[in-house]
Amino acid sequence: MCGIVGYIGKQEAYPILVKGLHRLEYRGYDSSGIALLNTAADLNIYKSKGRVADLETYCQGKDISGTIGIAHTRWATHGEPNHANAHPHYSQSEHIALIHNGIIENYVVLKESLKQKGYTFQSDTDTEVLVQLIEYIKTSDNVDISKAVQLALKQVIGAYAIALVEKGNPDLIIAARKSSPLVVGIGEDAFFLASDASPIIEYTKKVIYLDDEEIAIIHRNEQLKIISLGNIEKTPQITQLEMSLGALEKGGYAHFMLKEIFEQPRTLRDCMRGRINIDNNHIVLSGILDNKEKFLNARRILILACGTSWHAGLIGEYLFEEFCRIPVEVEYSSEFRYRHPVIYPDDVVIAISQSGETADTLAAIELAKKAGAFVYGICNVVGSSIPRNTDSGSYTHVGPEIGVASTKAFTAQVLVLIMMALCIGREKKTIPEKRFLQILSELDNIPNKIETILGLNDKIEDLSKIFTYAQNFIYLGRGYSYPVAIEGALKLKEISYIHAEGYPAAEMKHGPIALIDNEMPVVVIATNSTTYDKTISNIQEIKARKGRILAIVNKSDTKVRQMADYTIEIPETEECLDPLLSIIPLQLLSYHIAVKKGGDVDMPRNLAKSVTVE
Ligand code: G6P
Repeated sequence: MCGIVGYIGKQEAYPILVKGLHRLEYRGYDSSGIALLNTAADLNIYKSKGRVADLETYCQGKDISGTIGIAHTRWATHGEPNHANAHPHYSQSEHIALIHNGIIENYVVLKESLKQKGYTFQSDTDTEVLVQLIEYIKTSDNVDISKAVQLALKQVIGAYAIALVEKGNPDLIIAARKSSPLVVGIGEDAFFLASDASPIIEYTKKVIYLDDEEIAIIHRNEQLKIISLGNIEKTPQITQLEMSLGALEKGGYAHFMLKEIFEQPRTLRDCMRGRINIDNNHIVLSGILDNKEKFLNARRILILACGTSWHAGLIGEYLFEEFCRIPVEVEYSSEFRYRHPVIYPDDVVIAISQSGETADTLAAIELAKKAGAFVYGICNVVGSSIPRNTDSGSYTHVGPEIGVASTKAFTAQVLVLIMMALCIGREKKTIPEKRFLQILSELDNIPNKIETILGLNDKIEDLSKIFTYAQNFIYLGRGYSYPVAIEGALKLKEISYIHAEGYPAAEMKHGPIALIDNEMPVVVIATNSTTYDKTISNIQEIKARKGRILAIVNKSDTKVRQMADYTIEIPETEECLDPLLSIIPLQLLSYHIAVKKGGDVDMPRNLAKSVTVE
């Protein structure tokens, strides 16, 4: 997500701002930019698509002088990631430069009204609308810049954290927030500004967290002034930073993994934003629609991935076969690349990767491309190698995932696959419209249902205490729940170092049933599905051998809860969406077991987040 940095003081601003941008890189972004006011009263803006390092290269040889400036990392919402859409944005007269984190929902109306007044726009962003509005109000109402900001923000619907500087006003930064974070740091003869404290902490521990609808007037030689949108002056509340840099990035959670599990309602909303329109009954995945013929004429879909991403791919297999009637094969990239695979030019290859850098998946993509197949990427890290090496794709947009055990990236990968299958199925007319609409409408409920499951965290923590003794675990599921079972088992082994096997429930009698005794915990996903009754038979087989059953059930369940030793009740949903819910308690269970066993949850032994060697 976007990151904001600002500085006003006695030192050169550029190095402080660039360092701050680097500190915010973990947030995820696709372009960056900087605005500096120098002693000659110039307002210089430099922007670059790509990494902060690209911005630094771009700035080489340019005038980067000045002791006041603002800088930004952009995570695209309105308009593609490019130079024009990167922040800061100039006003029409190029006298004001503004950076913004958030979304201005009524920007279309505001833009139209400004256009009618003769304003022209250089970008597709909502941010440029705001800077133009501020300038228009300043000129037409003949007010100073802080008043203009206040009046403009009163017209804005949506979320924002903003910072601006004005040409000819080299002693002033104005900042404001609503629903997007902003922190002011109070240093010796200096003020700092940032989206979180990570760029500030090495300069000062004294910070002020702005509240919603507060405007900070940060003047070089004066005390910080905070006014509300309603023009009430506030007394700045200084907070002493006590947390380490690492802890700050965890947002108060004990581990990144827990934070990332809890982020999922938001990350799934982010992943759907701009793609699903419930009111118009539309799914718009431009990567699919721009290449519609490839998908409609696909002889086969080949899904290539590793680890957790491969598990998401397995769910994709169920989805594409059910809704698009296209045969699907899901392959480990590492096996596929060395197996002399048969690849047809009319195959569509879907490569799934959180990091976008997994070496085996990259190599498998190259192989598929050489054979003439169309390659589609599902990745999280914007601008990473896989998106750059595929013909088209969709980002998952969950922000940086720092915990090695993937959680929020997995659910977003599954969500993208769901949206793809629905989008292609509708185009192919292989999904009845009524069914499409039912699933679409239920997708909208998923984030809230995940919130409900997260509310069971304490109960799941209690349950985890029962299982810390275990040396082995079995996870069972059928249909859409089978990939969830193996992903649940992977989560447990990754971070708790307990051996865990995920199995299709019906396969248990062909081997793993030999392992079951009264010590063996068996986690069964037994939510409502077309195979519910079959799963009950499998549970009976475990029960007969005294296995200890922990079942994931729905509220309406009456049968499984009578057989299971423990149950976790999750909300009901469409069968194809159930993985988005049933994985959540399994993530929490593995997290709590790992914590109880004293493991390094975020960086488990021998594992890496991004596997760049084969
Ligand atoms: C590593 C990570 C896993 C991840 C796998 C594939 O093993 O620890 O969490 O699922 O790589 O990574 P990718 O970035 O391609 O999804």
